[in-house]
Amino acid sequence: MEFGGAITIFLALCLSCMLILIAWKRVKKGRELPPGPTPIPFLGNLLQVRTDATFQSFMKLREKYGSVFTVYMGPRPVVVLCGHEAVKEALVDRADEFSGRGELASVERNFQGHGVALANGDRWRILRRFSLTILRDFGMGKRSIEERIQEEASYLLEEFRKTKGAPIEPTFFLSRTASNVISSVVFGSRFDYEDKQFLNLLRMINESFIEMSTPWAQLYDMYSGIMQYLPGRHNRIYYLLEELKDFIASRVKINEASFDPQNPRDFIDCFLIKMHQDKNNLHTEFNLKNLVLTTLNLFFAGTETVSSTLRYGFLLIMKHPEVEAKIYEEINQVIGPHRLPSVDDRVKMPYTDAVIHEIQRLTDIVPMGIPHNVIRDTHFRGYLLPKGTDVFPLLGSVLKDPKYFRYPDAFYPQHFLDEQGHFKKNEAFVPFSSGKRVCLGEAMARMELFLYFTSILQNFSLRPLVSPADIDVTPQISGFGNIPPTYKLCLVAR
Ligand code: HEM
Ligand SMILES: *[C@@H]1O[C@H](CO)[C@@H](O)[C@H](O)[C@H]1NC(C)=O
Ligand SMILES: *[C@@H]1O[C@H](CO)[C@@H](O)[C@H](O)[C@H]1NC(C)=O
Repeated sequence: MEFGGAITIFLALCLSCMLILIAWKRVKKGRELPPGPTPIPFLGNLLQVRTDATFQSFMKLREKYGSVFTVYMGPRPVVVLCGHEAVKEALVDRADEFSGRGELASVERNFQGHGVALANGDRWRILRRFSLTILRDFGMGKRSIEERIQEEASYLLEEFRKTKGAPIEPTFFLSRTASNVISSVVFGSRFDYEDKQFLNLLRMINESFIEMSTPWAQLYDMYSGIMQYLPGRHNRIYYLLEELKDFIASRVKINEASFDPQNPRDFIDCFLIKMHQDKNNLHTEFNLKNLVLTTLNLFFAGTETVSSTLRYGFLLIMKHPEVEAKIYEEINQVIGPHRLPSVDDRVKMPYTDAVIHEIQRLTDIVPMGIPHNVIRDTHFRGYLLPKGTDVFPLLGSVLKDPKYFRYPDAFYPQHFLDEQGHFKKNEAFVPFSSGKRVCLGEAMARMELFLYFTSILQNFSLRPLVSPADIDVTPQISGFGNIPPTYKLCLVAR
């Protein structure tokens, strides 16, 4: 009895010590995070950060707190990094510490930490190395990625020619072609432009990207713990992505039925080979879940980003007709009218290259980046970011950093040209982010943008329906993603 009582007291003491320790650690951690507006319980900084203008709210806070600050997105503290220097110090100089993927609650219900883009730790390292190897053209089919893009660009030109210069809305022309490039890599074949299932997939990707950029999604990211149980619009992303997942799972089944390990046709086949090699390893990352979700990552990321950039690029080029004339001149000098453009032409076309960089800079497709996370306790600029802290690298604030771009808000291709007209690199050009999580499709996307812009402008000139001065380049939606405005144009054959 006495002994039991002593144990109880001892345990109670231990427990209180632990509780005090935990509470104290919290306070201490909170104190060592970078400064920021004072949060209120549960709401966090909801009063300072507007869910319908998150990026703009961050820019306001930056004026007060500097380029590194903490905001509470609901109950979750997030460290925000603004401008080239802060982002580079984190993602490049401290690449390893900042290489974790932060929470993206609006899609986590579908992914649950699987698939290369949202994975962490060894799973991420394995999936990333594998995916990069495949995208770099090893061991898959006979055709290079460049040839696949050239083929797809020819189909697009044919479609444009059929419009006979009548006004069109370019969104689905561009998403079908961009999607077909990544489709040919992951599924081994392109889709027919009229294929109903294909159009349905593109509609779902289009809608998910819009849904991810609504204030609802921002709210969901803050309060997913509660909101996942509530009905409402925020659930649409979940159902859209589940449907996309089902489609990919069905393609995996088709591949399995005709699978020949000696002769892999596409990304899915290469992954299946790994699954067979590892089939006795219970802990392998080469499993069905990672196959479906990594393929979904590639298919999704490879479609919307490239096609939005092309769509915004057309608009910027039409607003600046002298730019189109100069690109055409360069095409004539380097490629001429009789052959398809190839990637090797790029180094000989500094002006075109500069324009494409400037288009990407202003398209600013994910202004707040994709959330990162520190994988261990990290000292940064005199603060302590405890392991697991989420970090938002505001890519949009780097792409418009006035220290690196003379006219941050203007379309000014000279940002990427020196006095002699040679291409000039700019270290604050980070549309693909930087460091260990840098976009996995960067090389492919850059190839696509160059080959599409040049082969389109080689064959067509772009005509707006309003005068160039009246073209409005304000994004249609600006949230997680910047979505370019909807507009019509005519493609007039040269
Ligand atoms: C203009 C086109 C594109 C832009 C601007 C773009 C931009 C980005 C950005 C900003 C990130 C986040 C990097 C970070 O976490 O810091 C990213 C990640 C990623 N991108 Fe892209 N992307 C483009 C095209 C593509 C394409 C064509 C593919 C597929 C082949 C792709 C696949 C991925 C994947 C898988 C990730 C996740 C990487 C990881 O978490 O390790 N992207 N991209
Ligand atoms: C989806 O398509 C519509 C046109 O039907 C377009 O206005 C919208 O911008 C597209 N969304 C994205 C994310 O591109
Ligand atoms: C585009 O231009 C190239 C070079 O002039 C030509 O070979 C090709 O047939 C044209 N494509 C289309 C679809 O008109």
